Amino acid sequence: MRYFLSIFIMLLVFVIGVAGFRGSTTRRPPIELFPDMDRQPKLRPQAEDGFFGDGRGSRLPVAGTIARSTPLRVPAAGGQSTVYSYQDVPVNTGRATGMTNFIENIPLQVTGELVMRGMDRYQINCLPCHGSLGDGNGVTRKFGMAVVANLHDPRLIKMGDGELFHVITSGRNLMSNYAAQVSIKDRWAIIAYVRALQRSRVASVNDVPEQLRSTLKN
Ligand code: HEC
Repeated sequence: MRYFLSIFIMLLVFVIGVAGFRGSTTRRPPIELFPDMDRQPKLRPQAEDGFFGDGRGSRLPVAGTIARSTPLRVPAAGGQSTVYSYQDVPVNTGRATGMTNFIENIPLQVTGELVMRGMDRYQINCLPCHGSLGDGNGVTRKFGMAVVANLHDPRLIKMGDGELFHVITSGRNLMSNYAAQVSIKDRWAIIAYVRALQRSRVASVNDVPEQLRSTLKN
């Protein structure tokens, strides 16, 4: 009983404090507990401001500034087209534009340079798990990652390039995605290199230039 009155009064104040002023308006400014957070002496990007002579809040980038993302040059009908990373085009998604179907072939010009870049990126990003030969025998196997896919699996040889792109971009089952680590162009480069790895195992004697065939050991 000794505490009842004080608890009752506290409860009363609380209920009135929370519920009693609902819907009421005031013309007085709100109480600002941390005014320095509400009112910061700063310029908002892209906004007007009188501080600089030209009236802009943002400054122009320093001459020679490099953009964070450069558009890709993609082979297109009648030359090349410029593609930004946000566009819904096969080179960004691995899918036919506006559809969920994966594309079959790498939408970039496949050059020796692209394949070498792919080897470089593969060895950094994929080799630890998939192994230097692509057979799933990377170093992570020793540490308990037992079911890394063998990239020479006939299912993966047949898989379209767009779907491989999707696996790198979004991951699949146990494999995480590598979109943050591997740029769009580098993903296609890796795919070109993976195709070369696969080819190295399923090639026949007909793939060897005729004049070199005699040098092959049986
Ligand atoms: C941390 C280990 C790891 C790394 C790094 C890794 N993978 Fe994988 N990858 C896996 C595992 C595990 C699987 C099997 C996933 C499953 O089926 O559960 C797999 C599966 C795959 C598959 C088969 C998908 C399917 O449809 O079955 C492809 C293709 C593939 N990885 C490509 C790559 C490429 C290309 C890279 C480099 C960008 C890469 N992986 C990096 C672990 C890894």
